[in-house]
Amino acid sequence: MNDTIIITGANGNVGAFFAHEYAAKKQKLILIAHKSDQRIADLRNNKNVEIIFIDLANLAETKAKIDEIIIKTGWKPTRLIHTATVRSHDFKPLVETEPELWSNIINTNIMGTFNLLKSVLPHFIANQYGKIVLFASNVTRIGLPKGSAYSASKAAIANLSRTLAVEEANHNIIINTVSPGPIRIDESSFSESYRKFREEYYEEKLREIPLKRCATFGDLFGICNFLLSEDNSYITGEEFYITGGKL
Ligand SMILES: NC(=O)c1ccc[n+]([C@@H]2O[C@H](COP(=O)([O-])OP(=O)(O)OC[C@H]3O[C@@H](n4cnc5c(N)ncnc54)[C@H](OP(=O)(O)O)[C@@H]3O)[C@@H](O)[C@H]2O)c1
Repeated sequence: MNDTIIITGANGNVGAFFAHEYAAKKQKLILIAHKSDQRIADLRNNKNVEIIFIDLANLAETKAKIDEIIIKTGWKPTRLIHTATVRSHDFKPLVETEPELWSNIINTNIMGTFNLLKSVLPHFIANQYGKIVLFASNVTRIGLPKGSAYSASKAAIANLSRTLAVEEANHNIIINTVSPGPIRIDESSFSESYRKFREEYYEEKLREIPLKRCATFGDLFGICNFLLSEDNSYITGEEFYITGGKL
């Protein structure tokens, strides 16, 4: 079986967890990392895994490297999980936000998603098969004060999947968005001010979550794995909020 899952943000918190879950199932994986592959270093010599480094903000690089790895391996990409993102690190109201910071987040998160889909979809179309999960966030429905660029970019991603579900239905391609609420992640690399911003945000949000906890990586894996499985042949263009009951 050459069936292959492509995971972006594979060195991120969620991406690395997914990479390890699928690697344990001996699934063929193309893992897209950006600056580092430290969290998935143990998979470097796994024969079912290819790790490549791509700046998704660059279309030419994204397309060339994805085409190259598919030709080199002879693997057949059938599923895509897109977790790569620039986080919301502005923590300022929009009026105080520098245009450069805004455009960096928008460029990576929206154009990066466009570049990725533009590079992967032709392979799915050639195979007349594809299943895609794009990661957004529950900020698509509640907004994110002091995170306008991130929340705008995530809303764009969710809407993109609605559009592509219609555009690509005739190619047997299914695409959905997963929008989690707060997730507990490794914060060791964050600046003190960003940690403080998250702490306050999480404290407030946790009070509002009926299940009284953040989503785990396992919670996210469960829904994504279902959406990408053969059991899902009819759900497309939907956005799933993984928020422990918080509307
Ligand atoms: N964590 C949460 O609480 C939370 C809540 C709601 C939604 N989400 C969503 O869930 C998804 C996964 O979150 P996460 O916590 O796993 O994020 P994360 O740990 O920050 O991982 C994101 C990854 O994206 C990569 N990336 C950034 N810019 C890139 C670029 N230009 N090209 C390619 N890759 C790039 C980063 O690589 P480098 O570090 O090497 O740049 C990083 O490994 C994201 O889409 C996020 O928006 C997360």
